[in-house]
Amino acid sequence: MCTPAIRRNSPASERNQAPILAQLQRWLPPTGRMLEIAAGTGQHAVHFAAGLPGWHWQPTDPDADALGSIAAWAVAAPATNLLPPPLQLDVLATPWPVESTGVPMAAPWDAIFCANMLHIAPWACCAALMQGAARVLSPGGQLITYGPYLVEGEPTSAGNLAFDADLRQRNPAWGIRWLHDVVAEARQAGLDLQHRVAMPANNLLLVFGRAAPPA
Ligand SMILES: C[S@@+](CC[C@H](N)C(=O)[O-])C[C@H]1O[C@@H](n2cnc3c(N)ncnc32)[C@H](O)[C@@H]1O
Repeated sequence: MCTPAIRRNSPASERNQAPILAQLQRWLPPTGRMLEIAAGTGQHAVHFAAGLPGWHWQPTDPDADALGSIAAWAVAAPATNLLPPPLQLDVLATPWPVESTGVPMAAPWDAIFCANMLHIAPWACCAALMQGAARVLSPGGQLITYGPYLVEGEPTSAGNLAFDADLRQRNPAWGIRWLHDVVAEARQAGLDLQHRVAMPANNLLLVFGRAAPPA
């Protein structure tokens, strides 16, 4: 349980929320239940819940201060489809709390959204995200990730190279991930990359779905 606290502000979230929402509206069906992983400040949660009125949106994060900020944003911008309270969820801790039965936030989820976590968490979080998504998504569910990636055979922007160096200097376990490594972890979990969308500021939005069973 967290108490509404300081509303944190991320200028990057403010900049990217409109283009991300446009993609969510493009790829998601009109209604469903969304589990947001690594919700951070909570700005995305309130913006996307408002822009996707047919979706129930459940923000999560492992960090207590982030949970406080998400709750504070939810108080400032109340939306009936923003599910309270924000949940404490660390992708590395299995089972995820949403895997309990008989709780309002129990799986299955129609979609999972995770922005800007993979590069700012140890690499093991990628496999944990993919495996967890495969466990809690509905059969036709989608995992949507957003953030910077390195792409083999494609030049990396100077901004992303500098960002990657800065991340690794702050924590050697962090760093911008190779897209093919992320896709390989998804495949291991039974998820396929279905759509890849170039986003402003050299970011990508990726849509994963369950791999078709072999014919
Ligand atoms: C850069 S912030 C991104 C916040 C928000 N999604 C956004 O795009 O503005 C990274 C977030 O990842 C979360 N995070 C780090 N390790 C995690 C883990 N093991 N499981 C889930 N979230 C994690 C942090 O608590 C933090 O809120």
